[in-house]
Amino acid sequence: MFASHGRVVVAPGLTRNLRAAWDARQFVVENTEVASGPSLTPEIRLRLFTPNCPFWHARPDTWPFPDPYWAIYWPGGQALARYLLNNPEVSKDKKVLDLGCGCGASAIAASLSGAFHVTANDIDPVAALATQLNCELNGLEPIPCVTKDIIGCESEKWDLILLGDMFYEEDLADRLHNWLRECIRTHDTKVLIGDPGRAHFESHSIRELLLELARFTLPKAVAEENYGLTCSTVYQYKADT
Ligand SMILES: C[S@@+](CC[C@H](N)C(=O)[O-])C[C@H]1O[C@@H](n2cnc3c(N)ncnc32)[C@H](O)[C@@H]1O
Repeated sequence: MFASHGRVVVAPGLTRNLRAAWDARQFVVENTEVASGPSLTPEIRLRLFTPNCPFWHARPDTWPFPDPYWAIYWPGGQALARYLLNNPEVSKDKKVLDLGCGCGASAIAASLSGAFHVTANDIDPVAALATQLNCELNGLEPIPCVTKDIIGCESEKWDLILLGDMFYEEDLADRLHNWLRECIRTHDTKVLIGDPGRAHFESHSIRELLLELARFTLPKAVAEENYGLTCSTVYQYKADT
C-alpha cells in the first residue's frame, strides 16, 4: 500500500492478497457457529464447527482448506484455558506464546488473565484468522499470530509457553520436546502442556518430565467427541537440563 496525492493506493498484488484474506475471513464466519459450550470455559466464545454448519455433512474433499483443527476446541486447550482463568497470576504481566493455537482459546485466556503480551502461533494461516475473529468475539484486541513454523528456531524470551493438545504425532512431539528443553535452558521459560491422555503423549519420553498441576473432568459431550477421554490435565514441563 502506498500514498499518492493524499490517496491510499493499493498495489495490485496486495489487492489480491487482501481480497483472499477477506474471502477466507468470510468463509470462516459463514462456516462456523459461535459457541460457548459445552466446554471447560463457557465464558470464552468461539467460532467452531458444529452440526449446524454447512460443511458438517459434506464430503471432506470439498473443504477448500487444510483440515480445520482451528474449528475444534481441543480438550488439551480447554484444560489449559481453564487453568489460566482459574489462576490468573500464572499469566498476569507475562510474555506468553500459545504454540499451535488453533482457535486461539489459550491465548485468549492468557490475555483475559492480564498477560503483558500474547503471541499466538499456528502453521495454518486460517487458524490465525480464526484466532483474530475469536478475539473480537471476546472483546479483545487482535492477538498477533505468527504462521511460521518456529519449532527448532532460536526462541524469543517467552516467560510462558502454552501447548494445548500438541502431542498428537510422534515427529511433532520429538521436535517439540527438543525445542522446549532449549527454551527452558536458555530463557528459563515456564512451559505448560494440556493433554487429555492421548496415546502419543502418554508413551512419549517427555511424559516422565511433567509435573501435574490440575486435572479437569470434561463435559460429557466433549468426552464423547474425543472417543471417551474423560479428563484433561495441565502439566508443567520440568526440563532434564
Ligand atoms: C490439535 S490442534 C490444538 C489446537 C489448540 N491448541 C487447542 O487445544 O484447541 C493442533 C494445532 O497445532 C497446529 N500445528 C501443527 N503443527 C504445528 C507447528 N509445527 N507449529 C505450530 N502449529 C502447529 C495445527 O495447525 C493445529 O491448529
